[in-house]
Amino acid sequence: MTDKRVALLTGTNRGMGLEIVRQLSRLGLIAVLAARDLEKGKVAAVTLAAEEFDVPVVALDVTDADSIRAAVAEVRGLFGRIDVPVNNAAILKEGLLPEDTSILDVSGDLVNQTFLTNTVGPLRMIQATVSGMRERGYGRIVNLSSGAGQLAEMGGGFPAYRLSKSALNALMRIIAAELGAHEIKINSVCPGLVRTDMGGPHATRTVEHGAETAVWLATLPEDGPTGGSFRDMKPIPW
Ligand SMILES: NC(=O)c1ccc[n+]([C@@H]2O[C@H](COP(=O)([O-])OP(=O)(O)OC[C@H]3O[C@@H](n4cnc5c(N)ncnc54)[C@H](OP(=O)(O)O)[C@@H]3O)[C@@H](O)[C@H]2O)c1
Repeated sequence: MTDKRVALLTGTNRGMGLEIVRQLSRLGLIAVLAARDLEKGKVAAVTLAAEEFDVPVVALDVTDADSIRAAVAEVRGLFGRIDVPVNNAAILKEGLLPEDTSILDVSGDLVNQTFLTNTVGPLRMIQATVSGMRERGYGRIVNLSSGAGQLAEMGGGFPAYRLSKSALNALMRIIAAELGAHEIKINSVCPGLVRTDMGGPHATRTVEHGAETAVWLATLPEDGPTGGSFRDMKPIPW
């Protein structure tokens, strides 16, 4: 088993996930780049190799329980441990304006598909990795959530995405309550509006900035928080 901390990050062939892999690698973790399309993952890894980060790549589709189990087994086989599951993969299939998709019109299929990726995927990832973290008495679970899921700031538009991220925050609170305040920490991050395929070209933040709080939560010290929601490394209301 490696002595280094091992992170397994979903949806990291592009966007913020790829940047979180880069930043965690820079900090000396083994950051495993997981992508549902292995070839796209390998292409992304080549860009990091050019920066001298030799990151492992695994196939992982968060909507497929067998794929999650296989990826977790592969990483355990390679390194003997997973300390930092980062639930980054997500879909946003709705337009960003309230008039694009009203909750009064949204299809149940879209809500199901979005929940399967954005909420059930993270749940399965945590279920698949928690036993090892318990055995070793260390874990830092990070969920990429969104201000769109905050009840305090809830508005109209993109309802399936909003619902899935609210539920992701609830999931995080429930797991934090069950795990207690000690060895395994779980937190949500709202990265702000970030210039990725999802955030669009006019988003205010760079991926480097968007990734910072997730990286901080992935490497929290022993006395760091759990069960919280953070933006710019500061707690935000639900
Ligand atoms: N960008 C923003 O402004 C913003 C704001 C708030 C929160 N967030 C959150 O931050 C996270 C990263 O967002 P982003 O902007 O980097 O998104 P992105 O550019 O759209 O990238 C999404 C990633 O998720 C992957 N993915 C989608 N479905 C998947 C599945 N079933 N299995 C595995 N991977 C899957 C995609 O893979 P493919 O290439 O194969 O599609 C891609 O790698 C998400 O959780 C998002 O909700 C983003």
